[in-house]
Amino acid sequence: MIEKFKNVVVVGCGTMGNGIAHVFALKGYSVTIVDLNHEILKNALGTISSNLDRQVKKGSISEEQKNATLSRIVPSIDLTEAVKNANIIVEAITENLEIKAKIFELLDKNAPPNCILASNTSSISITKLASFTKRSSKVIGMHFMNPVPVMKLIEVIRGYDTTDEVCNAILDLSKDLEKEPVEVNDYPGFVANRILMPMINEAIYTLYEGVATKEAIDTVMKLGMNHPMGPLTLADFIGLDVCLAILKVLHEGFGNPKYAPCPLLVNMVTAGHLGKKTGKGFYDYAQI
Ligand code: NAI
Repeated sequence: MIEKFKNVVVVGCGTMGNGIAHVFALKGYSVTIVDLNHEILKNALGTISSNLDRQVKKGSISEEQKNATLSRIVPSIDLTEAVKNANIIVEAITENLEIKAKIFELLDKNAPPNCILASNTSSISITKLASFTKRSSKVIGMHFMNPVPVMKLIEVIRGYDTTDEVCNAILDLSKDLEKEPVEVNDYPGFVANRILMPMINEAIYTLYEGVATKEAIDTVMKLGMNHPMGPLTLADFIGLDVCLAILKVLHEGFGNPKYAPCPLLVNMVTAGHLGKKTGKGFYDYAQI
């Protein structure tokens, strides 16, 4: 554990937030998880507990480590109180600029002056988020990958004003979490989604234009390119609403029509078929 980051606050405990809390607590950090209500926090703790169980079963951690990890996580619905002694805050709330802007204003007002404010955003500009604070030099992107306890990469995104000192501290912190950090600059989609989303969008266009079936498209990319899953399956796992939101950021950010979301993707999101989380996307998940 890096002592100066001992007190961690994770804001938003959905898919990503609970994984982020998991990896920090496992490495000995004291973690406060904050969300909108007790029910969500209870579910997040339940998910963390069952993911830790899986690690115990695999033999990668002991039962004692599991219990110690859980004992280091404190749930809270009081954001203002929770951040009072924070050394680092990782924001992982819904991907919506307005909501994130309000949270960054609040964090800036209530967290200690030295506290670093990190965002797990997939696509919103870090420089933009920093503009809602009076500490833009201490705002940074810490883009974990899903599922967080398993995936090694953290894309560390430097906002326009992020200092070397803050960036280096976050690179070291990421390594302490046994992750592989990669430093990138703050442009639409950063690196991961700038490359991934056009590929997914092209796969959707390929389906939309009737070039091949969804199974054929996924098989080509799996067997031909050695991808662990096909792009349409991956889109279902990420969430089609999330894919659409990121493509819109790329489209608007670069003003280039090559990023225009495929009309089929737009229709599916409008119809509420968002992928695995709603039971239906390109594939049917009702049985899972
Ligand atoms: P999610 O919808 O699963 O979780 C978001 C959580 O934030 C919910 O529990 C919600 O109740 C909470 N929340 C919303 N407003 C809040 C507020 N004002 N105060 C406290 N909590 C609040 O979303 P998910 O998928 O975990 O995404 C979170 C962030 O991580 C987004 O910025 C997303 O772009 C990013 N991300 C998502 C990935 C994914 O595969 N799902 C991958 C990498 C980044």
